[in-house]
Amino acid sequence: MPEHPFDTIMNISLGFTLSRALQVIAELGVADALDDTPQSADELARSTGTHSESLNRCLRLLSAHGVFQKRGAAYVHTAASQLLRTDNPMSMRSWCRMQGFTPLWHIWEQMDYTVKTGRSAEKGLPGGSFWDYLNGHLEHGRIFNDAMTGKTSGQAAGLLAAYDFSKFRSIADIGGGNGQLLRALLAANPSSTGVLFDLPDVIAQAQPADRLTLQAGSFFEGGLPVCDAYILMQILHDWSDEESQKILTSIRCGAPANAKLLVVEFLVPHDNTPSWSLLLDMVMMVELTGRERTEAEFREMLARTGFRLDRAIDAGFNTFLLEASVA
Ligand SMILES: C[S@@+](CC[C@H](N)C(=O)[O-])C[C@H]1O[C@@H](n2cnc3c(N)ncnc32)[C@H](O)[C@@H]1O
Repeated sequence: MPEHPFDTIMNISLGFTLSRALQVIAELGVADALDDTPQSADELARSTGTHSESLNRCLRLLSAHGVFQKRGAAYVHTAASQLLRTDNPMSMRSWCRMQGFTPLWHIWEQMDYTVKTGRSAEKGLPGGSFWDYLNGHLEHGRIFNDAMTGKTSGQAAGLLAAYDFSKFRSIADIGGGNGQLLRALLAANPSSTGVLFDLPDVIAQAQPADRLTLQAGSFFEGGLPVCDAYILMQILHDWSDEESQKILTSIRCGAPANAKLLVVEFLVPHDNTPSWSLLLDMVMMVELTGRERTEAEFREMLARTGFRLDRAIDAGFNTFLLEASVA
């Protein structure tokens, strides 16, 4: 039976409580405190220093949505709650903690300003922009980079299975964070070398590795490495069309004629079906200056900056690799 409109509105208007409960449970390390043995809220509250009844109510809500499972008075892990563990290779704990950073949570109060003016609310952040805020708050910057590592760990296997990176001798990951994707690509392709390019504070924290060069800089200021392939993974969605065109132009200026540009992004579905890429689009609108885009929007933007979109490859998890050539 279709959902009644009353239930639709109740679910959406109160949906923030579910997000917030997930963020708080991730912040408090509850999934780390739960091992293979079922544990009651009392036991979990003792090991996490929390209030048993309140914790139980959060876990009851989350378990109704598949994050943890309630078994009598105890809780056990599900595949989703396992992703909140710090030691999970695809850990999304930092991702959830990051969504709950207090200054980010605060600027959602300004969403009406964004909707009225078309301007991001990021000026309300300490530092005045998303990136300045992270650069100025080392602990939050570290959690953000960890969040990207978790996200990218989930995507890397799909990208490696879907696309042959072995044809490139040198690969630049532009805005590559701490290099999770590039490290996976180099491990799978022993004859390739890589250049990890990101802001100075991010590069300062990146671990060196064989066949990996670390290069600090800004993709708005040119001086990008010269390579056979350029990866831009979840970069353009952070920026407006004008800013994205500047980044693409920086790459286009230094790229060899036979280079490939590999844009990796979450695409907005053509048919407007529910998708978390539409939720992320709201984050990009309020917290940054960016947006999630359709394949057609990327095709046009690439054409405007001297690239030709050759194909879009589905790599799973709503992740698409857009392979483009220098036009
Ligand atoms: C959303 S994260 C994506 C990280 C990585 N590509 C991934 O998907 O895991 C965006 C990255 O862009 C970097 N960044 C932001 N502004 C930059 C700039 N002006 N120049 C170079 N990198 C920048 C950030 O430091 C961050 O690592």
